[in-house]
Amino acid sequence: MKEVHLVYYSPALSTRKIMRSIGKEFNTTIKEHDITQGIAAPLSFTKEDTVIFGVPVYSGRVPAMAVDYLQQIKGESTPAILVCVYGNREYEDTLLELKNICQGNGFIPFAAGAFIAQHSIFSNVAKDRPDEKDKLKIADFVKKSIKKYQSLDSNSSSLEVKGNYPYREVSKIPLTPKGDKQCDNCGTCVKMCPTHAITEDNPKKTDKDLCISCARCIAVCPQHSRKFRGLIYSIARRKFESKLAGVRKDPEFFFIS
Ligand SMILES: Cc1cc2nc3c(=O)[nH]c(=O)nc-3n(C[C@H](O)[C@H](O)[C@H](O)COP(=O)(O)O)c2cc1C
Repeated sequence: MKEVHLVYYSPALSTRKIMRSIGKEFNTTIKEHDITQGIAAPLSFTKEDTVIFGVPVYSGRVPAMAVDYLQQIKGESTPAILVCVYGNREYEDTLLELKNICQGNGFIPFAAGAFIAQHSIFSNVAKDRPDEKDKLKIADFVKKSIKKYQSLDSNSSSLEVKGNYPYREVSKIPLTPKGDKQCDNCGTCVKMCPTHAITEDNPKKTDKDLCISCARCIAVCPQHSRKFRGLIYSIARRKFESKLAGVRKDPEFFFIS
């Protein structure tokens, strides 16, 4: 592989973490393209490149904003590896949707993986993942992907991944993080919010209509001031965690045949 590129959308930074671990397993120079806050310049790749696409799972789908950005990235029969990262519930149609977007834009997906990371809304679910076991799985995934890449030829079929079409319906999650008195108005969340739902004049507040509950503001707040709070959140958290906090799901891989 000549040039390996990581292209990822990662509001709460765990997809980025997994993508970087994947990148490290390739013994070559890696170029990173973080599309969480958009694409500054047109992004296109040739068939000499290999592109690894990474997205988190939102309601079993590729996040809507990521779809918009991914649609602007073009390949030219460019080999691609697809990665989704989910919070230990399910990833449903995410890999299929990612595959269809990438294939439609000139990429040839030949490997895909679904990995698990700490849930960005309910942090006791998949707590502290990815962990050491996940790192071994990542190394195995990359080893197998490289082998597959080396055997790619014109007889290779299309990659099959889990998922259904029509995709699942997505509904808005009615949970919005807010800041508390620890907030020192540093402006980090204002700058980093991918939907501009937080304003400079009162960064403790969040515009409910714009917020996509991505938890980026929580992940980047230097004061640890921003959190999901309130009764509805506490009830949802208890229910979600009682079902999933004690369950361990493992990464799943798919390769072209
Ligand atoms: C709006 C939203 C919807 C989510 N939907 C799912 C889901 O359907 N299944 C799941 O297992 N995790 C779900 N998660 C958890 C994320 O997929 C998981 O925390 C992921 O690691 C977040 O990636 P990031 O840290 O790169 O933003 C959701 C998280 C958010 C914010």
